[in-house]
Amino acid sequence: MNRKVVSGNWKMNLTWSEAQTLFKDLTSELSRQKATCRVIVAPPACYLSGLAALKSSDISLSAQNCHQEPKGAYTGDISAIMLASMGVEYCLVGHSERRQNYGESNELLSRKVNALLASKVNPIYCCGEVLEQRKSGDHFKVVGAQIAQGLFHLSADEFSNVIVAYEPVWAIGTGETASSDQAQEMHAFIRKTVAEKYGEEIAHSTSILYGGSCNAANAQELFSRPDVDGGLIGGASLKCDDFTKIIRSHG
Ligand code: PGA
Repeated sequence: MNRKVVSGNWKMNLTWSEAQTLFKDLTSELSRQKATCRVIVAPPACYLSGLAALKSSDISLSAQNCHQEPKGAYTGDISAIMLASMGVEYCLVGHSERRQNYGESNELLSRKVNALLASKVNPIYCCGEVLEQRKSGDHFKVVGAQIAQGLFHLSADEFSNVIVAYEPVWAIGTGETASSDQAQEMHAFIRKTVAEKYGEEIAHSTSILYGGSCNAANAQELFSRPDVDGGLIGGASLKCDDFTKIIRSHG
């Protein structure tokens, strides 16, 4: 499996007509020149089946969230089984906006991961420290705990389906990117943590993405670092030109 990945996270943006235009533009751009990385987009859930119907062989679809239970009286929620039944291949888990706005804990996220894996949907597990934690030097401890508590109950086989996204909360949507040194340092720490638990081979094949104000101007520098396998892109994934430039930054 190609370790290099670029994933867009559209969050709660775009009308249906704008979403279709963006998806079609991306599809034609990628059929003109193939990407060297896996390309994923995570649109709002209500657009997933419509975009799946457009059938792009160069773009995989991701949900932004799912419920931990398979079905039931959970008004407004979507299960992993539903995502799988629509051909959705990936799902974000534990984005900082969900951790902060909905109080999602590592323990809850571990259950979402289980639900996704049971349905053969690949989790994109997000982790990252807030500014105070970086300032106090606790960032490795915080990210280490998020990874261990959310993922380390998995078998090695299960874990090999997980993508990790490191997104320092202070860099998300702020225009303040982590330096490529800061990203590399944390990604190397995450890979080492994975290696200690699952061994070198699995750690070596795990995709670890950077997210947080990654854009067309800084992607190349970030992706050039040995443990930065790509990006989870918010704002800059909403424009075809910018997102394409980021995809092409993989060289
Ligand atoms: P941003 O968001 O690129 O707009 O900072 C990244 C994310 O939240 O995944």
